[in-house]
Amino acid sequence: MDNNNTIAGWVLAGGIAALGFSILSGKYFHADKNERPETMGYVIEGVESSDGGKEEVPMSMMLAKADIAAGEAVFKKCVACHTINQGGANGIGPNLWDSLGKPHGHVAGFAYSDALASIEGDWNFDNMNAWLISPRKYAPGTKMTFAGLSKPEDRANVIAYMNAQGSNLPYPEPPAAEEAAAEGEEAVAEAEADAAASEVAQETVEADEAAAAE
Ligand code: HEC
Repeated sequence: MDNNNTIAGWVLAGGIAALGFSILSGKYFHADKNERPETMGYVIEGVESSDGGKEEVPMSMMLAKADIAAGEAVFKKCVACHTINQGGANGIGPNLWDSLGKPHGHVAGFAYSDALASIEGDWNFDNMNAWLISPRKYAPGTKMTFAGLSKPEDRANVIAYMNAQGSNLPYPEPPAAEEAAAEGEEAVAEAEADAAASEVAQETVEADEAAAAE
């Protein structure tokens, strides 16, 4: 009987120790959580992030590097259905002169699908990018039977080329540049605050000296 109690005691103690250890190791090693570091050491293009979204390079950054001549070459994939010269004829698709900055379905008299024509707002760099990734996803039921351009560079280049045909919209600021500018401003503000603080300190010293002299 005594022996049995001792065995039970050891088993219980062992269990408690194991539980304690697993709590501790969980604390230190976070084995129970699938955590990502706040900033990744390096970014691999096209890799899915844990939140499920693709880590896309923003179109503004792609455009900054876009090549209009390369875009004209990409546009060869479109010429079976589209002209892009000013006053060019509609084909299977509408003429695309001056399409960026214009409403969806911008050519009067072209028989657009409701799917496309009913989309509110003007074409801009971002929604044109989304359209060219997959017309079918962007406007389910569209008449544009084109699979899409999978390479971000191709889309950036062809969008830059399209923009140069009549629209000439200014490119959006890449976010990195905005951040750098904001950081610069912050540094200037900090330096100014420091200067002001040291001025106050100097005045205090002077006032103290004046008081001591009296
Ligand atoms: C197989 C023919 C075909 C090809 C190839 C094609 N398109 Fe289209 N495109 C169309 C049709 C048809 C429409 C009208 C869609 C609708 O009404 O749903 C259209 C519409 C568009 C529009 C909308 C215009 C507006 O006025 O709103 C843009 C922009 C466009 N295409 C760009 C392109 C680009 C860029 C390419 C090449 C990368 C391309 N298309 C390739 C047939 C084509």
